[in-house]
Amino acid sequence: MLLLTKQDIQKIFTMQDALEAVKQALNIYSSGGSVVPLRVNISAPNYEGQTLFMPGYVESLGSMGVKIVSVFPHNTEKGKPSVPATMVLLDGTSGEVCCILDGTYLTQLRTGATAGAATDLLARSDAKIGALIGTGGQAVTQLEAMLAVRNLREVRIFSRNLEHAQTFGTQMQTKFTKYGTLLRAVETSEEAITDADIITAVTTSHQPVFDGHLVKAGAHINGVGSYLPTMQEIDEFILHRADKIYFDSQEAVLAEAGDFIIPLTQGTISMDKFTGEIGKVISNNLPGRETPLEITLFKTVGMAVLDIVTAQKIYQKALEQDIGQKISF
Ligand SMILES: NC(=O)c1ccc[n+]([C@@H]2O[C@H](COP(=O)([O-])OP(=O)(O)OC[C@H]3O[C@@H](n4cnc5c(N)ncnc54)[C@H](O)[C@@H]3O)[C@@H](O)[C@H]2O)c1
Repeated sequence: MLLLTKQDIQKIFTMQDALEAVKQALNIYSSGGSVVPLRVNISAPNYEGQTLFMPGYVESLGSMGVKIVSVFPHNTEKGKPSVPATMVLLDGTSGEVCCILDGTYLTQLRTGATAGAATDLLARSDAKIGALIGTGGQAVTQLEAMLAVRNLREVRIFSRNLEHAQTFGTQMQTKFTKYGTLLRAVETSEEAITDADIITAVTTSHQPVFDGHLVKAGAHINGVGSYLPTMQEIDEFILHRADKIYFDSQEAVLAEAGDFIIPLTQGTISMDKFTGEIGKVISNNLPGRETPLEITLFKTVGMAVLDIVTAQKIYQKALEQDIGQKISF
């Protein structure tokens, strides 16, 4: 069995590798090539904690796995992370655990790559301006994926706290020098999205984080943050304006994301507004962007197949390059 830390993964697996892995995962998922049971949720009321077990099986890769993600808000008082995550990968041909990976970094990597893959497939090829809303734990890989798939002149960064956005922008400018893109913190989300070709919202907000009226024709939008029926991070107006709307998993998005559940329940939007899953664009069973002025929108809530396929690819590379700590029971 192999143990892989964040540093191990960073040594061997690039954002480009992650983009390829998630495209394969999205395709496998939408063509019915995976088994993804409902996740199991166990509460620990004494600690106001919750632990989620996200299992899945991808037969064609001979791979199984479960990501264990806990939300224990009081951990921070003990100097521990409040959302610890671990990925357990199994050899699908023997049922044995073959690898344990840092689940926090795996989540960041695959979530960035998922929005990145959608951006790669749907954004205009001549996109020049990006907007990133939210500068929390997921933001670095969201930014990296955006930079990796388009040659951008500028990315504007907005979060509720300007100082935080400025610090984030300065750090990222150093980290991602190789892309030659100006990374600039801005004071309002209006400033961030006006004229932007690509907009990524990755926040914990329950209310829309940008004004859909200001989205320019031809833009591509990624909604990454909302995961509860009460969360509406994307302005409903842009759902009406969008020419095409795609999901990572239509079933999961319509069960979890308030951005869609609320307007569907209120009857202000109907199912025929949805184009379908991005995996079907990858397999050429659905069109992607067809004209330069279309507005495209992608919503992801995440799913186990993304973790399993990405973890499997990381594991393979680690074996090839002799990275990680080997353990036997
Ligand atoms: N789609 C997926 O697969 C996936 C995977 C992991 C996390 N997520 C979700 O993504 C979201 C962000 O995760 P994170 O780890 O970065 O969270 P975080 O708590 O580290 O950061 C949240 C960010 O959102 C910003 N924010 C909150 N409300 C805002 C508002 N009204 N306007 C502008 N900015 C606002 C905060 O300032 C902060 O920068 C969470 O809701 C998380 O559950 C989705």
